[in-house]
Amino acid sequence: MFYSGKELKKVFDKAKKERYGIIASNVVFDNAIRGLVQGYEAQKSDGLLQMSAGAMKYAAGSTKNVEVGAQLISSMTKIIANQYKNSGVGLHIDHATPNYFDLVVYCIENGLVSSVMIDASHEEFEENIRISAEVVKIAHKHGVLVEGEIGYIKGAEDEIVSDTQLYTKPEEALEYVKKTNVDLFAASVGTNHGVTKGSKVTLRIDLIKQIDDLLIKNNVERGIVLHGASGLTAQQQIDAIKNGVVKINKDTRYQMEIAEAVCRYWLKEADSIIPPNGISDDDFQPDKKRFDPRKWIVKGEDAMQKAVEELVQISGSAGNSIMSK
Ligand code: G3H
Ligand code: ZN
Repeated sequence: MFYSGKELKKVFDKAKKERYGIIASNVVFDNAIRGLVQGYEAQKSDGLLQMSAGAMKYAAGSTKNVEVGAQLISSMTKIIANQYKNSGVGLHIDHATPNYFDLVVYCIENGLVSSVMIDASHEEFEENIRISAEVVKIAHKHGVLVEGEIGYIKGAEDEIVSDTQLYTKPEEALEYVKKTNVDLFAASVGTNHGVTKGSKVTLRIDLIKQIDDLLIKNNVERGIVLHGASGLTAQQQIDAIKNGVVKINKDTRYQMEIAEAVCRYWLKEADSIIPPNGISDDDFQPDKKRFDPRKWIVKGEDAMQKAVEELVQISGSAGNSIMSK
């Protein structure tokens, strides 16, 4: 089922109350959407698919028209998700910097998304507050949720690149949430965007807890969002959720899964399309049964499905869909 912002709010409220995490998965292609939606459904888990501006540009093709890309990804998500009834997914805009303000408004006003992230974290603090509050005002009129961020998360995520890590200050988090009224709050707590190994990451569980406690104490409890979570260990994710994290973002993990699965396929099946050494083109008979794209693209889909099924079991959202009786 495809969730509107209103339904997605129920998903996050339930997860925060019961202390489990929702896995937010970046997508670009139909095969990624299919594999992930099937994985959430198989585990009766709610989820969130998210598209970056880079994904929208890619989806549109040579025009790089972000509005076209957003329509395409949104339509595919809705059509695929609405086939299923034991779970649901929403669609989110990931890391929309202020230069994508008009795109965010377009997606909200045209019912393409359930939630959006306004990432003005590289602006001055007051300017971040001003822009985020403006997005909240528009989004809430349409029942769409908003995620905001303060602090810098190190690494590269599509068009978002930071060489430095700037941890979120709890007092600033409180002021930001109060003044903007964002629904979800992304904190910089030690994770990195991109290929990372959890064992090499110092995840600041203490900082997650301080932020969560402070927001609760001031009656503005929010779900905390963990970006750059691909490489984290199961235990790191469990600890983060226990202490206030409700949305766990994954992109690189799936990219690695697809690449590895397809690579393994072709290491074995290359002779279905490339003549083995010593065989001339004339004598070579390609094998359609093995080079048909449906035979190898599906390996990537299956790998993504398997990955998300494992992730929702770790985060505790498996069996917890708001669709379950
Ligand atoms: O916004 C998306 C995420 O933070 C994904 O980060 O690619 O390190 O998993 P990741
Ligand atoms: Zn991120």
